[in-house]
Amino acid sequence: MREGISDYTKLTVDLRRHMWKAGVEIELRRLIWQIAVMGKYISAKIHESNRKLAGLKNIFGEEQLALDKSADEILKNQLQFSGFVREYASEEQDSVIQIGEGNEKYFITADPLDGSSLVETNLAIGTIIGIHKESMLAEGRNSLVAAMYITYGPLITMVYSAGKGTHEFVLNREGEYVLSEENITLKQRGDIYSLGGLRKDWTPEHRRYIEFLEKEGYKLRYSGGFVPDINQVLIKRGGIFTYPALVKSPKGKLRLLFELQPMAFIIEQAGGMATDGKQDILSIKVEDLNQRCPIYIGSRYEVEKAKEFLTSS
Ligand code: AHG
Ligand code: MN
Ligand code: MN
Repeated sequence: MREGISDYTKLTVDLRRHMWKAGVEIELRRLIWQIAVMGKYISAKIHESNRKLAGLKNIFGEEQLALDKSADEILKNQLQFSGFVREYASEEQDSVIQIGEGNEKYFITADPLDGSSLVETNLAIGTIIGIHKESMLAEGRNSLVAAMYITYGPLITMVYSAGKGTHEFVLNREGEYVLSEENITLKQRGDIYSLGGLRKDWTPEHRRYIEFLEKEGYKLRYSGGFVPDINQVLIKRGGIFTYPALVKSPKGKLRLLFELQPMAFIIEQAGGMATDGKQDILSIKVEDLNQRCPIYIGSRYEVEKAKEFLTSS
């Protein structure tokens, strides 16, 4: 057997087998698997773009879709035929789209392509998905039952949680997602910090918090892509990512529904925490699709410390 080629006569722990063994409900596991497959189509579009952001005309004078839009089209069109999805809400759409017949179990949120402006520089980018059991803006508490993200980097990886831990898979050369790490658990305290927003726009509380981390010797690791930045905290087993409230944008930059809540779900399932400085990200009511929110997410020690600094004046 050539090195790196899986032997399918033996049992490999691919995504479907993993979810089946973990007891993930059948429709949910089919849905997660289908979305993971869509990651391959999105990746193909990224390759096709040859690192140019498009939104322009191609050599035949035809309108080209921006990569974000193409990724959105892929997800929306494929999910329409999944049979499990009633509504689709995406960063690339103005409102929630009814894509099912009305009796399907799940409601999807998507940031189809996060960090697409990094394509040109060949840094990693990603897709973020939330899977809800109720309509996204419905009354009541957060209805996430699963979340996942796909990272398009030197390798394509997929991390999911269906409320039974957080697990990472790597796409192999035969196009299968193969388990690489199961039940990823963050340490109580890590040693990296990843921070968005310009220093000149920080609030005094946030400044004091960052100065505290710097005195403690945290290493700076920020790529400007939310997916790889969060993935780094997860895979390095801890640390903190923050995109804070800024003086001119007290709600920060990142979106609660499409970006923050799915990542908070995944990080909490890995033993970490996520807060806006006061409240847990998952307990914040989403009233508007594009609602933004400050975030401090990562291992417990750093997130608790952030709360301490943010609530003291
Ligand atoms: P998107 O490409 O989906 O609009 O998201 C952009 C992001 C996110 O990936 C990252 O965390 C943040 O914007 C970076 O912002 P700054 O350029 O302000 O650092
Ligand atoms: Mn984004
Ligand atoms: Mn996006």
